[in-house]
Amino acid sequence: MKLPHRLMSIANFIPAGSSVADIGTDHALLPVYLIREGIASRVIAGDLNEGPLEAACNNIREAGLADRIGVRRGDGLDITWPGEVDTAVIAGMGGGTIRDILKLAGETAARLKRIVLQPMGDSGDLREWLAANGWRIEDEDLVREDGHIYEIILAVPGRETETDRTLVSIGPRLFEKKHPLLAEMIKAKIRKNRKIIAAMQLSRSPETGIKQQRLMERTRKLERIADACQVPDDN
Ligand SMILES: C[S@@+](CC[C@H](N)C(=O)[O-])C[C@H]1O[C@@H](n2cnc3c(N)ncnc32)[C@H](O)[C@@H]1O
Repeated sequence: MKLPHRLMSIANFIPAGSSVADIGTDHALLPVYLIREGIASRVIAGDLNEGPLEAACNNIREAGLADRIGVRRGDGLDITWPGEVDTAVIAGMGGGTIRDILKLAGETAARLKRIVLQPMGDSGDLREWLAANGWRIEDEDLVREDGHIYEIILAVPGRETETDRTLVSIGPRLFEKKHPLLAEMIKAKIRKNRKIIAAMQLSRSPETGIKQQRLMERTRKLERIADACQVPDDN
């Protein structure tokens, strides 16, 4: 069975024998793959909304796996109890939503052995939150699909060793392994920051001025990191 590259990269971070909760499963492609390939011993597919759950149930039934994959409706990790699974996947949602799901999960999150996250935005804030809240970024990947670069983060309980905030936010393991797509991703962030800085220029408020200064400093640091990845920033 073939998965889109993004979901395949997530699956690659899940060791054989794991018990998995796929939060915000939608079509349940990942749970079906994990069971079919014999990677997960059990999977619970959860979603907040009726429509995606219906799609999940249909796909699971068509795959003949209705007795192997539990489907549950609920908010975030509420669908499992502490210790029921060792791995949670939260993919295809905003970084803020992922952070809120983990914040609210309390004991259930504390008993997980690993989390695999694929934020659709605000990945830097999410990484900084993980590092400040007892999660170590164990590994990371970048995947290009449909003209977009997706970020995949594997985090485990522990202390993040990277202390530089900018490096934590862009992906400390991506930087260490000099991921071939990292420079391109940083350059996209630099372009986005420059647009925000230009928009801030129009404001006369002192608070905006301070925010602008901070963003300019951060952007200069990103430019140095992009250089260190040996791709000159030509924009
Ligand atoms: C874009 S889909 C991602 C589907 C799949 N995880 C993937 O990466 O391909 C996001 C899904 O998350 C669900 N969702 C959003 N917020 C949620 C929450 N707080 N708890 C559970 N599911 C949520 C939505 O209903 C939707 O089905």
